[in-house]
Amino acid sequence: MPSDTLTITDNRNGKSYEVPIEDGTIRAMDLRQIKISDDDFGLMSYDPAFLNTASCRSKITFIDGEKGILRYRGYPIEELAEKTTFLEVAFLLLNGELPTEEEHEKWRQEIVVHTMVHENIKHFMDEFHHDAHPMGILLSTVGALSTFYPNAPNVSDPVNRRLQMVRLIAKMPTLAAFAYRHRMGMPYSYPDNNLSYTGNLLSMMFKMAEPKYEVNPVLEKALNLLFILHADHEQNCSTSAMRSVGSSRTDPYSAAAAAIGALYGPLHGGANEAVLRMLRNIGSPDRIPHLIERVKAGEARLMGFGHRVYKNYDPRARIIKEMANKVFEVTGRNPLLDLALELEAIALEDEYFVERKLYPNVDFYSGLIYQSMGFPVDMFPVLFALGRTVGWLAQWEEMVLDSEQKIARPRQIYTGHDLRHLE
Ligand code: CMC
Repeated sequence: MPSDTLTITDNRNGKSYEVPIEDGTIRAMDLRQIKISDDDFGLMSYDPAFLNTASCRSKITFIDGEKGILRYRGYPIEELAEKTTFLEVAFLLLNGELPTEEEHEKWRQEIVVHTMVHENIKHFMDEFHHDAHPMGILLSTVGALSTFYPNAPNVSDPVNRRLQMVRLIAKMPTLAAFAYRHRMGMPYSYPDNNLSYTGNLLSMMFKMAEPKYEVNPVLEKALNLLFILHADHEQNCSTSAMRSVGSSRTDPYSAAAAAIGALYGPLHGGANEAVLRMLRNIGSPDRIPHLIERVKAGEARLMGFGHRVYKNYDPRARIIKEMANKVFEVTGRNPLLDLALELEAIALEDEYFVERKLYPNVDFYSGLIYQSMGFPVDMFPVLFALGRTVGWLAQWEEMVLDSEQKIARPRQIYTGHDLRHLE
């Protein structure tokens, strides 16, 4: 008998089955042959929230949650964070290799020519309430982009597909900045294509009456690094939404709008905003024990802590914590930092968190940096979405090209009424 198989004995009828094991995985469809009668549907696996189900094969991002390892296309996140720009990482995620100097320049030009949005997008944004959450504005506007590009649903054409991908990556900073300016009641500021991807975002957000916005290189670099850290994270909630919605062969803007909706939630990308609100609510160190007690009693969650995959530490959190000091040298120390450090120290010593392997995740410190840089709290998930768009698109295209993929359509265990009739 080959060793890379699994023998399953069905104790209901004593029959045995041999199922191949490939890459440490069995195919759920191989269970279907396990039946106790001819009209039996066959065995299914039940996995709410996909705790132990691989939904695809992917070459993009590798995570080892026990060891705290994160790699894009084989490169450690630490090396990419130190030595590359966000646009280089975007190229890497989308194409599998880092760009040569020539490819980099061509890629930069490709992005730059698509940073503008149709003037009607501006009018569309104008109609949102003055205090609309910018993530809601972003979600709706990205969805609305599909109406401006009628060819977008033609996802089988590689040239057309790539054009839409470039458009979305290029326009995200413009949409994010416009959402912010609308919120602030300020006139929109158009893209400055002589600036870097992150420099242009800073300019579009914070430029006032000056003819040319002076980008602070430390802040530009910090934002670049934060976007690299957020660029992809394999099959997380929003990426799964992107793949799942995209599997119906809808256009990438509509799929990305769904992904933004998933990211918006406080257990996912909304956590960076929730951390800041939590720290503000705590207010002073003497109130930390009270929060910890509430968390242990199941009345609250410690936002920015815990992860489905990382059970040791989140390598992104470590890089962000190290970078924070450089930002604070420019912006001044965020007064909430000491509170965050103390909260982390207390939680890491506490048996509740130790037992459950709960550590600070990427969202614990990123909000403190964003806040110090002048971003309002509700822009934090928008910034997360900006970085993650590249990962969504890389994963979406991989799904479109994967001959094993079909429309995503899970099964259920029906627990409702048996057949019944109206009186
Ligand atoms: N505070 C307190 N308890 C927690 C926390 C937390 N932040 N996270 C998990 N737990 C407990 C949970 O109550 C459970 O305890 P018990 O076994 O007694 O029932 C145990 O730890 C396992 O938790 P889980 O809910 O089964 O874990 P999960 O893998 O389903 O959830 C998570 C992962 C990230 C949603 C969760 O840890 C969480 O809610 N964290 C706070 C929100 C957050 O920071 N999210 C950002 C995640 S990283 C970036 C991103 O993905 O966007």
